[in-house]
Amino acid sequence: MGQVIIINDDKKYAQFIKSGISSVAQKEVIISASATDAIEQIKNIEQIDLIISKYSIKKEPSFKILNRYLLKESRIVNLFILEHADIELPSYAYQISDFKDPKKVINACLREMGLKLYDESKNSKDGFKKINVKFLNHIKIAPCDIFIRILKAKTKDQYIKRVHKGDIIDRQLIDRYSSNNIQYLFVGSKNHQLLIRCIYAQFSMILSRNTISLERRVKVTEDSYSFCLEQISEHNFNLATVNLTNSIINSLKKSIIQVSNKKKTIELIKLLINDTDSFRYKHTHMISLFSASIINNSKWGNREQILKLIQVAFFHDLTLTEDKYALIESEEELNLSNFHNDEKQLILNHAHESSKLAGKFPNLSTGVSLIIKQHHGKQNGIGFSDSLNVNMISKLALVFIIAEKFTCNFLKKLESGNKVKFPILIQELRSEYPTRTIQVIIDSLMKSFK
Ligand SMILES: [Fe+2]
Ligand SMILES: [Fe+2]
Repeated sequence: MGQVIIINDDKKYAQFIKSGISSVAQKEVIISASATDAIEQIKNIEQIDLIISKYSIKKEPSFKILNRYLLKESRIVNLFILEHADIELPSYAYQISDFKDPKKVINACLREMGLKLYDESKNSKDGFKKINVKFLNHIKIAPCDIFIRILKAKTKDQYIKRVHKGDIIDRQLIDRYSSNNIQYLFVGSKNHQLLIRCIYAQFSMILSRNTISLERRVKVTEDSYSFCLEQISEHNFNLATVNLTNSIINSLKKSIIQVSNKKKTIELIKLLINDTDSFRYKHTHMISLFSASIINNSKWGNREQILKLIQVAFFHDLTLTEDKYALIESEEELNLSNFHNDEKQLILNHAHESSKLAGKFPNLSTGVSLIIKQHHGKQNGIGFSDSLNVNMISKLALVFIIAEKFTCNFLKKLESGNKVKFPILIQELRSEYPTRTIQVIIDSLMKSFK
């Protein structure tokens, strides 16, 4: 078993990081108040997984001392530097920019060791678990008491009951919390599963309705999508996550079927732009829409293929846990980013990993897993391809790639504050992909905006 060394003279901060790491990782964590002390201990330790050190401690140039020692002894150990380092760091050293938030430091360390992230609510010893406020917004009656947490600097956090079991959930109260940036409310640990089951049931019920407006469908599908991704990452595919995934895919399909002409297409696009927050959701729904448009306008397409591409849209970035990762579209963008090494690996391998994870979904249509693997143009699902080899990738995968490229170009243009004109976007796409096969796919996409 490897060990973790924390070099920090702030005892409270170091202790917090130590308990965060050891609550998840089976590692011995040692705290030293200086690099000089730490080196004395390191000499007797055979395997060190990670060192987390301040750049300097009082007058000691801690990083420099440590680095000199490690180089002299030829010990290559991952080294996290807290604080700004004003020199070029060796390849095994990383600077943590968010070092003031110890939770971010803990998560960066756990990621480096390939472990699941530290979840504050899971480790809380006070018996409460968090629940995202936006999921509560869809429940009518509270199945248990719901609390707000008051963070206290010196004493234990305080939990104040805001909704009683059996009460009708006050939407205005929830909206007020959301607009005040309160992301989580809390329930007693024993009631957490009850509330989760209640959210599952409520989402599935609303999504299955045929009569809800497009606006409401978009909002509920977005929230259930976020909830479902959280649950899949925690429990993989079980009965509940499989059922909800099916309901979301069906709801995406229903929203696209509701869109029968150019006017309705624009209405759905506007709802997705204005009423949804998550990039991953927005782009999943738009890719589904544009893929369906291409297939509907092509000579060879059928409904079964539309369902396949909606499944691809749902699963293709499944292992990318945050919007910022899903925004990366090329190796060049990835190299220019400030992501940490393990985050870069996550992004590079996501097509392959998402395809593997989707393969566990029991209702996956034939061929979907392969399209997920190829969705950045690489056959093995690792990395991004700058050019598309149309002979090596299936036609359906090409449709998906073009629908995603069009979606991302569109959303990036919007984000930069530029006015979006579809004919210009189409023209740009044409120049990007001059091959005949792709031009035919773009012809089909263009028909939706005529
Ligand atoms: Fe994507
Ligand atoms: Fe992707």
